[in-house]
Amino acid sequence: MFETTETLITAKSDNHLQIIRPMNYNGTHYRTIWPDLNNEQQICIIDQRKLPHDFIVEKIDTAEQMVTAIRDMHVRGAGLIGAAAGFGMYLASLQAPDTSFDAFMAAAAKKFDASRPTARNLMWAVERILQAMSQATNPEEKRATAYATACIIADEDAEFCRRIGEHGLRIIEEISRKKNGAPVNILTHCNAGWLAFVDHGSATAPIYAARDAGLPVHVWVDETRPWNQGSRLTAWELYHEGIPNTLICDNAGGHLMQLGQVDMVIVGADRVTHTGDVVNKIGTYLKALAAKDTDIPFFVALPSSTFDWKLDNGMDIPIELRSGEEITTLTGKDFQGKLRTVLLAGEETRAANYSFDVTPARLVESLITERGIVKPERNAIHQLFPEAGHLEGTRLQDKS
Ligand code: MRU
Repeated sequence: MFETTETLITAKSDNHLQIIRPMNYNGTHYRTIWPDLNNEQQICIIDQRKLPHDFIVEKIDTAEQMVTAIRDMHVRGAGLIGAAAGFGMYLASLQAPDTSFDAFMAAAAKKFDASRPTARNLMWAVERILQAMSQATNPEEKRATAYATACIIADEDAEFCRRIGEHGLRIIEEISRKKNGAPVNILTHCNAGWLAFVDHGSATAPIYAARDAGLPVHVWVDETRPWNQGSRLTAWELYHEGIPNTLICDNAGGHLMQLGQVDMVIVGADRVTHTGDVVNKIGTYLKALAAKDTDIPFFVALPSSTFDWKLDNGMDIPIELRSGEEITTLTGKDFQGKLRTVLLAGEETRAANYSFDVTPARLVESLITERGIVKPERNAIHQLFPEAGHLEGTRLQDKS
């Protein structure tokens, strides 16, 4: 039997903002990461490499295992790898010797930061744990602080996504009104769903809120080569949430936009500069260009933990280069139910696997955040998040 997180959330809610309805798989509600109910020194994750064919809960005991889980994409998606890094730092604190606690934690922080270089949430969570621990006076207190802070990071992630849903719902309502209640066709790229966060998702939260409000929606799901987050994760997730959706190949979006079959685009983000440039899964930029050409609004949904308050130019964000094998091979279940990896390209073929691209602010209609909808412009963003002002400042060579 799979573990349900519902009791857990109630049992461990001292540091939680509120109890939130986790998302749905086969009638059971899950978050994507949680401390084991019987042993909080063990962190449970859903191994996303196995979806959609197998739903496997993996238990993580050490910081090293969590680094591997992030790097090799057992967990992925901006918010979730932030939460995973938070819990991973807590596991590191359990391993840290009292005599060299701070040095051990600084080394662990470096390993987490290097595990996925593009997503801002990851470094943000690591910084937050280090900062919180710096207020504690001894290793025991620091470990307790790391645990409490990791729980808060996870709860905030879920709650902020829920609020993104409330704000994004207004946009879908308006389009629905203009269409006299006909289904609103939403195109999304990659997976910025509940699997990419602790719960709800960013791009999917407005979709789930629309479903809950009784508005008919239909989602065009980009398959999102090479890792296929769309076909493997988003289509699966939407199916289990009862949202009508259709899988399309990555190159179909522009054609559907020209045919008038897309009313809006909502994507997530791995990092957004405080000037509004968006880094998201490779291929996002091309969708934004097509949306601009066809006059279709292109929205980006993100919690504030995804903002980079220091970088002015999205082109300065480090873009992760992954193994070319993700392009030259494909893994799936054969018709006998066996998982197989097959070679698509010739054995001699070399592939370059750029994982993310930059969508300039000028192509983005608005950002949907937990505090509301905002234009992708420096002043507007800072007005919505005035407390981030002191973080501002250009790093010339930002590669972190
Ligand atoms: O490589 P991934 O799957 O970790 O990439 C991150 C993403 O899932 C996407 O880029 C997503 O659209 C934004 S993450 C909320």
